[in-house]
Amino acid sequence: MNYDKIITGGSVVTPGGVLDADIAISGEKIAAIGTGLASSSNGAQIIDAAGHYVIPGVLDVHVHLALPFCGTTSADDYYTGTRAGARGGVTTLIDFAIPYEGDSLNDAADKWHQKAEGKALIDYTFHICITRWDEHKDQIEGMVKRGFSTFKEFMIYESEGWQSDDRAMFGTLEKMKELGTMLLVHAESSRVLDELIERHHTPELMAKYGAQLHHMSRPNFVEAEAIQRAIMWSEMTGGQLYIVHMSTSEGADIVRRAQSRGVPVLAETCVQYLVLEDSVFAREDGHLFACCPQIKKPKDIERLWKGMKDGEVSVVSTDTCTFSREQKAMWEGDFTKIPMGLPGLETLLPLVYTHGVRAGRISIEEMCRKLSTNPARIMGLAPRKGAIQVGADADMAIIHPTNEIRVDPGTMETNADWSPYEGWSLAGFSRTTLSRGDVIVDNYKVVGEAGRGKWLSRKTAGLAAENSAHQHSELESAEIA
Ligand code: URP
Ligand code: ZN
Ligand code: ZN
Repeated sequence: MNYDKIITGGSVVTPGGVLDADIAISGEKIAAIGTGLASSSNGAQIIDAAGHYVIPGVLDVHVHLALPFCGTTSADDYYTGTRAGARGGVTTLIDFAIPYEGDSLNDAADKWHQKAEGKALIDYTFHICITRWDEHKDQIEGMVKRGFSTFKEFMIYESEGWQSDDRAMFGTLEKMKELGTMLLVHAESSRVLDELIERHHTPELMAKYGAQLHHMSRPNFVEAEAIQRAIMWSEMTGGQLYIVHMSTSEGADIVRRAQSRGVPVLAETCVQYLVLEDSVFAREDGHLFACCPQIKKPKDIERLWKGMKDGEVSVVSTDTCTFSREQKAMWEGDFTKIPMGLPGLETLLPLVYTHGVRAGRISIEEMCRKLSTNPARIMGLAPRKGAIQVGADADMAIIHPTNEIRVDPGTMETNADWSPYEGWSLAGFSRTTLSRGDVIVDNYKVVGEAGRGKWLSRKTAGLAAENSAHQHSELESAEIA
C-alpha cells in the first residue's frame, strides 16, 4: 500500500484498548492500524513514536477565544489559542458564538467565523448561545440547517445581556427534543448569587478579604440549585441537557441521581476544578484565579475525579477565557470587577495526564474517553473525530509517558503572561501533534500554518439518543465496542 505517513512503534490508545501498533495515514485520514506497516513503506514519511503513547487528538469543547466580556476582550484569539491547543495535543475546539444586542443567531455565527478566519491552526466549530429567547427562538431550526447542533444558555451574566430565565430554558429544551439537538447550560442561581454578592460587597469586607470574597459569595448550593432546576426542565421536556463546567460534589450527586432515573442529562467538568483548591484566592495574586463557577474545595475535587470513573462526568474541558495580569488588575480591589476566566488549552492534556493517569486516578483509556471520544460523540463529531480508528481524521498526539516540562508562561503559546499552574512540572505535553494528517507540532514546537484549521459542520448532538436510564454503563461500553 502507498501511505503518506506511518507512525511507528508507539503504544496506541484505541477504543478497543492500548495496542503496540503502527498507524498509516493517507491524506487526511487514518488508513490502517496494524503491526509491520512500515516494512512496505514505499517512501512514506516515518514518524517514530517508540517509547511514547499515541492518543487521539483532544477535543476541548468549552473554549472562549477573543471574547468581549467583563469590560475587556479575552486575550487568546484564534491565532494564539489554537497554537496553544496544538501544543497541548488539542486538535478540535468548540467556542461559543454569542449574539450581542440586536444580533440574530446567524449574526453571532458570522462574527465568530470572522474571528477564526485565517487564524485557526486546528479544527473548530461553535455552540450557538441563545441570549434573548423571544427574539431567537424561531431562529434555532435555521441554525441546525446551517450545521450547528448545540446551543447554550447562561443562568447568570445579566449585566452582559446573556442571562436566560426558566421560561427560556424550558422552551429551548422543548425545541432540543423536537430537533434532536442539545442545550448546554451554565448553571448558577442568579438571584441568590445577586443577594450574596450584595451582602459581601462592603468596603470593610473588601478591605479584609479581597479576592477571597469571590469564593465566599458563591457557596456550593449556588451551583447545585441551578443544576437541579435545569435538570427538572430536561426531565419534564425530554430535551437533552449538558451541564457545563460542573464544579461541586453536590452537582455531581444530583446529575448522577438524574441519570439513573433516565433524565437525558450529561455533565462536563473543567480541569481547573480537578487540580486547584480555593485556597488560591488567599494568595497575594489570588484575584488572577477568579472564574465562574469558582475553584472549589478538596472534597469537590475528589468527588469530580470519582465522577470521572463512575460516569457522571462525561467530559473534561477548559473553559479557556484568558486574561492577562493587566486585564485582571482591572478589579482594583473590588471582587465584582475581576474579569472572569483562566487560560487553559495548552495545559489540559498535561494536567489530566499527570494528575489523573500518572497519579493513578484514571487509566490512559479513561483519559482518552473524557478528552476525546466522549466529547466527539456527545457534540456530534464522531466518528470523524475522537478516536484512533480507520476512516477517522488523522488527529493524534504523541506524548512521552514520563518526561516532564515545567509550566513557564514565558515559553508558552498562550497570550497569557501568567499561568494558574506556573512552576508545576507536567508530563503529557504533545511531542508531535497531527491534525488531519498534517504535523502541526514537532518536537514540542508548533510548526503548522495559521488558517489551515477548518470549521466542522454537525447534524445532531450525537449522544442524545443513547442517553437513557442506564447511561453510565451504556456510554462507557459503547465507546469500547
Ligand atoms: O469565568 C468564566 N468561566 N469565564 C467564561 C464565561 C463562562 O462562564 O463560561
Ligand atoms: Zn460559564
Ligand atoms: Zn465558558
